[in-house]
Order: sequence, then C-alpha cells, then structure tokens
Amino acid sequence: MAGAESLAPLDKGVVRRNWDIRAAAWNRWAEVMEKVAGRFNEPLLDAAEVASGHRVLDLASGVGEPALSCARRIGPEGVVTATDMSPDMLDGARRRAAAAELDTMRFEIADMEALPFADESFDEVICRFGIMFCPDPAAALAEARRVLVAGGRTAWMVWGPMEDTTIFAVIQSRVRAALGLAPDPNLAQFRFAAPGLLAGLMTDAGLGDVAERELRLDARPAAGSKFWRANMEMSFAEELADATPAQRAEVERQVEAGFAEYLKDGAYHITAHARIGVGRRPAA
Ligand SMILES: C[S@@+](CC[C@H](N)C(=O)[O-])C[C@H]1O[C@@H](n2cnc3c(N)ncnc32)[C@H](O)[C@@H]1O
Repeated sequence: MAGAESLAPLDKGVVRRNWDIRAAAWNRWAEVMEKVAGRFNEPLLDAAEVASGHRVLDLASGVGEPALSCARRIGPEGVVTATDMSPDMLDGARRRAAAAELDTMRFEIADMEALPFADESFDEVICRFGIMFCPDPAAALAEARRVLVAGGRTAWMVWGPMEDTTIFAVIQSRVRAALGLAPDPNLAQFRFAAPGLLAGLMTDAGLGDVAERELRLDARPAAGSKFWRANMEMSFAEELADATPAQRAEVERQVEAGFAEYLKDGAYHITAHARIGVGRRPAA
C-alpha cells in the first residue's frame, strides 16, 4: 500500500496564500453551502462520537465547517475550539458563530502541524477536508494524538478520487478548458484519495482502533439550477477574478455543458465520495 512517501510535496507558504485568496469566496458562499455541508458534518461528528458537553478541537475549520455543527451538538456545557492557519478563513467562522449566537466556540489561528495546545486537552479532534493541505500530515496526526485525552477519538474527512465527485470532475475539467489552463494531476485536495493511505498514516502516528469509512452521497439538483456556482467560485477564486467577461461567459457555457451530461428526468444526477479516517488515542 502507498504510504506518505507517495504524497506530492507541498509548500506551506503557498498553501496559506492560496487559502487567504479564496477566503472571500468561501465567506460569500458559506450560508448557501450550509445544508450540503451538514450532510458531510454529521457523519464526521458521529465517527468521532462527539456528544453533549465534550471539549472538541476542529482543525482547519475554514469558514466554520464542521465547527458550527459541532457547537450545536455539544450544547451549552461543551466547548469547540475552531482553528485554521488562514486568519481570513477563520474570520468567516467567527462571523457565522456570532450570527448564530454560538457562544461555546473559541477561535485560534493554528497550524495543525504544530498546535498551540497543552497535552491531553480535548475529548475529540476532528478535521474536515484539511489534512490533504499539510506538507507533513504525519506531524498533524501526531499533534492530534498529543492533545487528545487517553481514549479520545479523532476523525478526519478526505475526498475520494476526483472522478467520484461529479461537481469537482466537471468544474475542474470545464473551467480549466475554458480558461486555457492545463489539467493539474496533483491537486492537493485529492492527495488522500487512495484507500488505506490515511489509515496507514494514522496507525503510524500511534493511534489505535484505526479504520476508514466510506461516505457516498447523491444529490438531484433541478435542471437549469446553478447549484455549481458556489463550488466553482470557491475552487477558482483567483483565476475567475482575472477572467475577462468573455472568458467568464465561456466558463459558464462550458460548465453548463459539462453538467448537461448528468441530466435525467428534470434533474442532474450527481454523486460525492468522501472517506473518514477514525481512530483513538490509546488508553495509557
Ligand atoms: C478545504 S478547506 C476546509 C475548510 C473546512 N474544514 C470545510 O470543510 O469547509 C481547507 C482549510 O485548511 C486550512 N489549512 C491548510 N493547511 C493547514 C494547516 N497546516 N493548519 C491549519 N489549517 C490549514 C486552510 O486554510 C483552509 O481553511
């Protein structure tokens, strides 16, 4: 089985800059995406066994997923600490928590490869679609283990292969084609697409009871709906900001044509495939 050595290298400075640039688009679309986000958040929170009154650390919270769902689940006696390396992304989480009056949320700018928290300070550590952006994911997993209480659970959500998630497959191919950009075979987002890779790293990090769970979701957005716009702007914020009106029109035309291939009985038949790596810090 492929191990960490199979992962394409990443530069953390470039990763951080890219997320700072995308933050405005992620903020703009956060509320629209909330319902879809919930379909991913609940299985992740279930996998980590997050429950009322727990102290939870959410890594790479971005603009607040799944930290806000987590705050709702743990109730007034719990605390969720939302963290991210990008201050601009985390500002979105702060804004949304204030709007929702979720006062059990804490916020901290933090690189998950070097966490600013004491040993054994959380009941659960969760991370949704973040570890793939770490140059050193083994360091992130070791840090999660360190800050967990003995027996505490951790759950990490990653994407399966790009072709299993229709929205990414169509948007990546069509937007790139319309803008004259080459396909990127090493998209960081899909760095953990190989089954077993995440579980192997979790085991190497000293976590116990490690397993990977598959999460496959279907959706049926109505024909003609622009359900893809949020995802497109969040994925290609920088490139679209530089596009001319003619290029932008071509992008929209191409993306519409791409999704038309999935039309049946008045709806687009689309799928998503994520994977959840679960484990726990062994009892001492
Ligand atoms: C795809 S977004 C996921 C955000 C959120 N968890 C969600 O699912 O909507 C990836 C996030 O990972 C953050 N990130 C990347 N590398 C990180 C690191 N080493 N430490 C902390 N956050 C990191 C980025 O700033 C970005 O907000």
